Amino acid sequence: MKSKNDEAPAIEANGARIPLIGLGTWDLRGKACASMVEEALRLGYRLIDTAAMYRNEEAVGEGLRAAGIKREDVFITTKVWSSDLRAGDFERSARDSIDKLKLDSVDLLLIHWPNSSVPLKETIGALCRMKREGVARHIGVSNFNVNLVEQALKLSTEPLVNNQIELHPYNDQTKTIAASRKAGLSVTAYSPIARGKVKSDAVLSRIGKAHGKTAAQICLRYLVQQDIVVIPKTSRSERLKENATIFDFKLTAAEMKDIAALASPHGNIVS
Ligand SMILES: NC(=O)c1ccc[n+]([C@@H]2O[C@H](COP(=O)([O-])OP(=O)(O)OC[C@H]3O[C@@H](n4cnc5c(N)ncnc54)[C@H](OP(=O)(O)O)[C@@H]3O)[C@@H](O)[C@H]2O)c1
Repeated sequence: MKSKNDEAPAIEANGARIPLIGLGTWDLRGKACASMVEEALRLGYRLIDTAAMYRNEEAVGEGLRAAGIKREDVFITTKVWSSDLRAGDFERSARDSIDKLKLDSVDLLLIHWPNSSVPLKETIGALCRMKREGVARHIGVSNFNVNLVEQALKLSTEPLVNNQIELHPYNDQTKTIAASRKAGLSVTAYSPIARGKVKSDAVLSRIGKAHGKTAAQICLRYLVQQDIVVIPKTSRSERLKENATIFDFKLTAAEMKDIAALASPHGNIVS
């Protein structure tokens, strides 16, 4: 990884430039969270993924300040939880997030999960307002299927830049990826190493041996090689480096095919 955002591997989508590798922070809290964020940034990570629901935005902000990286060189994503999708709640949650992070704005604000009891029009309206009012530089969605991506696109008056979905070698998200890209959205893979499950995968380990890489690195490489943003979470320093060292080799077409064959229709583990 390179040390500057403009040099870090990134994907462009509807005017946003999003680093291809970031640190997921679900389940990281307090000092442990702040120090992982600081360490990741010192190592060269330039994207940190948080959410109001993770209750760690203060700690993420602390880690960010401790790392001493220029604000414009770091990409911060946060999300508004599904119980806050009425316009007033949405705006309060988004403003609370930037207060907790101690930032003027986040780089990407996402609707965390859809909520069918709130009209999507109202939520998308609030999301767009947060962009216009400068709370978020860019906006997007998470856990949106093909139908919801299409609806969101029709309702949005501002460009949507990202759909964050569960994605790893065990699930098939081909249709959602295609619909997102057709609309100009980039895709972020959450739980990209299937919550650690890939570590003992025979196919990924076999391919890893050929490249001198671990199964987790092969899994992450498989995703970034398709221009998918990955946000693996770890609480262990040694794994921060392991998870980010995925830009110094390439998988062959045959290896990509072998990994794609691991997907099954009911392969989701989170959603
Ligand atoms: N938008 C959404 O609805 C949504 C949902 C879920 C997650 N997310 C985001 O996506 C991020 C990542 O997803 P996730 O946390 O669910 O799962 P993940 O990143 O796929 O896996 C994390 C797990 O894998 C382990 N791990 C990390 N690096 C490893 C390695 N190199 N080898 C073996 N095991 C390793 C971690 O343990 P250690 O900590 O011990 O290393 C942890 O138990 C989250 O943190 C969050 O930011 C978003």
